[in-house]
Amino acid sequence: MERFYTFIFAAGLGCFALAFVLSLVFPVISLGKYEAMEFRDLEDLAAVPKAEFVELAARYPEAFESAFGTRTATPAAYAEALQLGRDIYVGQGCWHCHSQFVRPTSNEAQRFGPVSVAQEYNNALNLPHIWGTRRVGPDLIRTHGKHTNDWHIAHFMNPKNIVPSSVMPSYKYYFEEDGTPRKNGFSLVAYIQWLGTAYEDLPESVKQENEQ
Ligand code: HEC
Repeated sequence: MERFYTFIFAAGLGCFALAFVLSLVFPVISLGKYEAMEFRDLEDLAAVPKAEFVELAARYPEAFESAFGTRTATPAAYAEALQLGRDIYVGQGCWHCHSQFVRPTSNEAQRFGPVSVAQEYNNALNLPHIWGTRRVGPDLIRTHGKHTNDWHIAHFMNPKNIVPSSVMPSYKYYFEEDGTPRKNGFSLVAYIQWLGTAYEDLPESVKQENEQ
């Protein structure tokens, strides 16, 4: 009988040790297929200003100059706008009504675009991430290219003019009466138009695997 207990004890220890090893081995195997992604800082993200930001500079040269001290959409101006835009998004509590995460459930990919992947959050503008917990309005992590700058400006000034049933508040104090953006307006539009580009910039192999 005593040998039996010894066996059970040894088998128990063995199973414990096996579980311990496997809980290391499985993550290593499953992570192995992902390419290691470097953390992207703000300078890297803003190195090539997106077309929407370039258009804002060209369209409102004087207002752009008084906001950023230059008439061209330089990487430095873009970095400043993106950071300020994100700060406004956090400060205004946009995340009370908007998520930034496409879940792999409920056909969300059909509504918003590709399901979110970990790599796209590994950068200065998505960390700490603003996934949100409520969706009074649509998810915003795939907003890049969905609407024009004009659409966003008109929408921020009075959402109900664009979507009559909208419950989104107006942010018209970020713009002049004729729609010319103030510094905060430029920044908010630049940030919203940026959302999704971290995904677009991922290697094709990662996107292909995700979108299968
Ligand atoms: C009270 C809830 C609420 C708040 C706060 C709110 N929104 Fe919205 N938002 C909505 C709703 C509802 C919609 C969908 C109807 C519409 O387009 O107006 C929407 C739509 C949008 C859209 C268009 C999305 C698309 O895919 O067409 C953008 C962009 C947006 N919001 C950005 C923001 C930003 C930036 C802030 C903060 C400055 C903000 N929202 C604050 C409720 C909100």
